[in-house]
Amino acid sequence: MTLQADLIHIFNGIPFTTRSSAELLRSLDGFQAREDDLLLISYPKSGTHWLAEIMKHLYPSKVSLTPPIEFGEVSKLEELNNMTTKRIVPTHLNYAMLPKDFKAKKCKAIYIIRNPKDTAVSLFHYYRDNPNLPTIEGWSTYLDLFLQGEVVCGSWFDHVLGWEEHRNEMGTLFLYYESMKKDLFQSVRKISNYLGININDSEIHDICKKTSFSEMKDNVEKENSEPENTVCSLTSNKRLIFRKGTVGDWKHYFTNKQNRLFDETCETKMDSSSLAKHILYED
Ligand code: A3P
Repeated sequence: MTLQADLIHIFNGIPFTTRSSAELLRSLDGFQAREDDLLLISYPKSGTHWLAEIMKHLYPSKVSLTPPIEFGEVSKLEELNNMTTKRIVPTHLNYAMLPKDFKAKKCKAIYIIRNPKDTAVSLFHYYRDNPNLPTIEGWSTYLDLFLQGEVVCGSWFDHVLGWEEHRNEMGTLFLYYESMKKDLFQSVRKISNYLGININDSEIHDICKKTSFSEMKDNVEKENSEPENTVCSLTSNKRLIFRKGTVGDWKHYFTNKQNRLFDETCETKMDSSSLAKHILYED
């Protein structure tokens, strides 16, 4: 991958796209959180839009799903300050870069984690299709970069480890993409319990229907092709988000050798992680 200077810049050792201005990133620590802010946290391609859609249905009114906090120019922090409703704030930031006030105010936070092999494949397609990301040479070169954390938003391993290490500070709820695929009803129940939202079984069934992959993909395709808002700082085009939405697609990409190397890296890096021990790689 060429580090195309007009697309990528490095901040705190992490590659960001130029859609996240350096001035904004420098100003994040001064951001004032509110006690009722809710954070939706993820490494890119982990199911952020899925989780955000569930939120929209759980809070049908009087909440604002904001753009990702790391997206745009510094003026956007002012826009967030001016919002009067409860804010649901998506972010791909690592724990260290999250504005301190969210931590001080112990804001609720939901982290969606996806198995890193499918995440890597999904991000590979994003690199190919998303004009905001640099050109990549091919799967095998890309996979090395992913393993080394030299992709946008940095290392998947460090992202998960950082948030896991501090999980008790904000009482973060961790959800697995694969568990959501297996039993969305239970996942929505878990989220509503965490948020203290009263909801009955039939309402949950309704949310499950409205947030299925096919429903969400169809809705985006039916909409106008104008760029829309997304909850990913790397694009505003929702059409780039819905690809396959499956568990285990990685098997179509990894050679045996690549799979062995990936497993070894994962074992070494995630040795201390209890979250990683429960990740499922197939459905
Ligand atoms: P694939 O590229 O594997 O299809 P994010 O929202 O964090 O950018 O993640 C995008 C990934 O989540 C894509 O994965 C996308 O298809 C998948 N996704 C989006 N909505 C989904 C849904 N309702 N159910 C399952 N997967 C979904």
